[in-house]
Amino acid sequence: DQYTKEINAFLAANAEELETFRIKFLGTKGVIKDLFEQFKTVGTEEKRTFGKVLNQFKQLAEAKYNEVKETFDSGLKTEDLGLDLTLPGDGFNTGSRHPLSLVRIEIIDIFKRLGFVVAEGPEIEDDWHNFSALNFPEEHPARDMQDTFFIKKNSGKDDIALRTHTSSVQVRMMENGKPPFRAIMPGRVYRNEAISARAHCFFHQVEGLYIDENVSFADLKQTLYHFVQELYGADFKVRFRPSYFPFTEPSAEMDISCTICKGAGCNMCKYTGWVEILGCGMVDPNVLENCNIDSKKYTGFAFGMGIERIANLKYVIRDLRLFSENDVRFLKQFKTEI
Ligand code: PHE
Repeated sequence: DQYTKEINAFLAANAEELETFRIKFLGTKGVIKDLFEQFKTVGTEEKRTFGKVLNQFKQLAEAKYNEVKETFDSGLKTEDLGLDLTLPGDGFNTGSRHPLSLVRIEIIDIFKRLGFVVAEGPEIEDDWHNFSALNFPEEHPARDMQDTFFIKKNSGKDDIALRTHTSSVQVRMMENGKPPFRAIMPGRVYRNEAISARAHCFFHQVEGLYIDENVSFADLKQTLYHFVQELYGADFKVRFRPSYFPFTEPSAEMDISCTICKGAGCNMCKYTGWVEILGCGMVDPNVLENCNIDSKKYTGFAFGMGIERIANLKYVIRDLRLFSENDVRFLKQFKTEI
């Protein structure tokens, strides 16, 4: 009956509740005492069945009482432990993404929407993938010890180095596949430079490659123009300046009007109103041939940018070293939903 259910479900949180239970069922004015009083009044026939049930019920109540009492006696009282299990739990701190990751994710997202895939490659590269296939002349200054961290330096061709750009991934991609290619290559690169607010011995790049039939410089401009608009909004100007890279011809550098002072002149842009954000150009036919691609049939463009530079402009960070010092006071400012 209802009492049996109540007894079975009984769980005492403290000694007081257990005592209330004892008084209610086992006490001198309790339920069981009361039932035994009633028992005296029933007929002899019923006494047999009723008596049996009654005894079982009494045993059940006593067993429950002893069982609960035992758990208390064994010392597991929550109050004794100084715990209040009804208090809300401690919140836990979530980390935040590194600003360079945030910017990398954003750049990848923009190019993914244009149909670019993400490609990766090794950070330790041979001379061919980092330099030779990319049309670097033997005596090019970028091969000098001052720019490149060499792991093994012999004759040039057998050199092993930390990659100085992710263009090496472009070479690997072209060698191992067939055009068309439409990919971006995010990754860490290394250059042997004195560490200061404006230079570091490593930084992060996103390079891109687009190769197909009839790809023109107009495609390059429009793609990159679209990219910076997605990244910074439409509220600024873009300009292309002629430049030189061994692996592209013609080559250009793209500047944007300063996003911080909107061209009014701040020291982020050395008071010029313009900041350079990437290098680009049409892939040199020599590079295509080095990677076994028919340069008569295919053309393409490539570009490369430093993630640090983009992040500096986005978050107004003036010292590159902050990115790798792991100071939580810096890092926790970049809480996001991503
Ligand atoms: N690899 C160049 C660098 O590291 C960037 C670049 C990539 C320029 C592709 C043009 C085309 O500076």
